[in-house]
Amino acid sequence: MRLPSLPRRYHAASIWLLYAVGFVPAIWCFYLGATGQLVGNPVKIFEHLLGEWALRFLILTLAISPLRDLFGVNWIRYRRALGLLAFWYVAMHFAAYMVLDKRLAFDVIVEDVIKRWFITIGMAALVLLIPLALTSNQWSIRRLGPRWTKLHRLIYPIAAGGALHSCLSVKVIGLEEMIHAGLVVVLIGWRLARKRFLAWKRAARDRPIPA
Ligand code: HEM
Repeated sequence: MRLPSLPRRYHAASIWLLYAVGFVPAIWCFYLGATGQLVGNPVKIFEHLLGEWALRFLILTLAISPLRDLFGVNWIRYRRALGLLAFWYVAMHFAAYMVLDKRLAFDVIVEDVIKRWFITIGMAALVLLIPLALTSNQWSIRRLGPRWTKLHRLIYPIAAGGALHSCLSVKVIGLEEMIHAGLVVVLIGWRLARKRFLAWKRAARDRPIPA
């Protein structure tokens, strides 16, 4: 069974809609924070929510190719928007950490990055995300050629780092962290099995039907 595909004339609009919808959780988090509805430790909860959405968007970005390989759903046109949404959520999560959590105390931040492993890993993932966000445009794709594909393979260590960072940031790994980490493992693992699967699918398609 194939999902009905969206007419071409709606493609651009659907991408803009994805950006708009993608920022709704951030707006909602800001609203809850600004109206005092984040009960307990509002800064931590705010930081946590933005981090979670960052990881969710990274997972969705990774899911696009397997969806096409396995189910024939071609949503490649949404991959860039999902990746950029992940980047903006990581940036907001980082800004919340710097400004609200650490109140721009740079000595504490540097110490954190050096001494707390989960922060070191999160920081590395953020740094690696920057060249991907900067080159996520047609001009860079044309300019970099095959190097663009190689560069964008950084998404795998970034997602793995993000999931590991999230697990290490909590005292007890809960269901949510497990699901996120599990999805990242499966989606990265899929890349290892992908070639074989596609070859098998091609062979099955080309096999002559017995008379
Ligand atoms: C790809 C990059 C990143 C991703 C995907 C990410 C994601 C997350 C997630 C999902 C959590 C919540 C874990 C949980 O409670 O289940 C979290 C927590 C946290 N992250 Fe990140 N993060 C990233 C980068 C960073 C960076 C660059 C920093 C700061 C330098 C940072 C600082 C923190 C802190 C301090 C917490 C703990 C908040 C708390 O105490 O509840 N993260 N992150």
